[in-house]
Amino acid sequence: MGIPAGAIEALRDARHVLVLTGSGASAESGVPTFREAQTGLWENFNPMELATPDAFLRDPALVWRWYRWRRELVARAEPNPGHYALAGLVDRIPQLTLITQNVDGLHQRAGSHDVVEFHGSLFADRCFDNDCHLDAHTSDDELPRCPQCGGLLRPGVVWFGEPIPPAALDAADAASRDCDVFLSVGTSSLVWPAAGLAEIAAGRGATVIEINIDATPLSGSSHFVLQGKAGELLPELLDCLDVEEH
Ligand code: OAD
Repeated sequence: MGIPAGAIEALRDARHVLVLTGSGASAESGVPTFREAQTGLWENFNPMELATPDAFLRDPALVWRWYRWRRELVARAEPNPGHYALAGLVDRIPQLTLITQNVDGLHQRAGSHDVVEFHGSLFADRCFDNDCHLDAHTSDDELPRCPQCGGLLRPGVVWFGEPIPPAALDAADAASRDCDVFLSVGTSSLVWPAAGLAEIAAGRGATVIEINIDATPLSGSSHFVLQGKAGELLPELLDCLDVEEH
């Protein structure tokens, strides 16, 4: 593929890089993305019947079965070279903010720290009835109960119509306004407010680089579009950064 020299230079000169990942970053780990036909996670499920508070109230056991299935699928998956490359990027950039829309925890398993989980995590159950504060808690009961109030527990992911966790939103907003380079990896750039972060960064003069196998609504306004697989392009990007400047 060959990575444009301009993209490497932008990363080399950057003081602060924001990386936003989507399910395409986990695709090569065998974790289905959301919107791809045939392989998409939603191929066999209707998200509007599963990933909403109403769906949970209607049939909490069904929703838990879906999320437990996803948790088991992810637990069997392994980080791919793209996750490891991003974990290594932190040693090559003065300041790196990694924001993920993924709930699979694979960035952390690849060694990334301080990951901003914009849509929550499959591995952090939350209290549905009273929003009790729980440490990272996962239960395998059919209908897990809150250890504090005895109410229903729910998966710790953001559902349709729900707000982004305030701490994650603040961190993402601040990083979008401060970064010199915005690197979008494996996201269709369709779901807001995550899809709006690149625009904020570009509006402050950041260089926008997109890695995706397909075109997205972000492609047209990106300074560099690297078409290909995250698991291949991210390690290549890191290698280019490691090549001593002539
Ligand atoms: P999507 O399934 O919408 O998009 C995945 C993107 O990754 C697509 O643009 C694919 O072309 C691209 N892709 C697939 N395989 C790739 C690979 N190996 N390398 C690079 N790119 C690849 O998933 P997201 O954009 O993550 O939100 O979806 C955003 C949000 O929509 C999710 O976080 C989820 C969903 O609603 C919640 O659950 C709240």
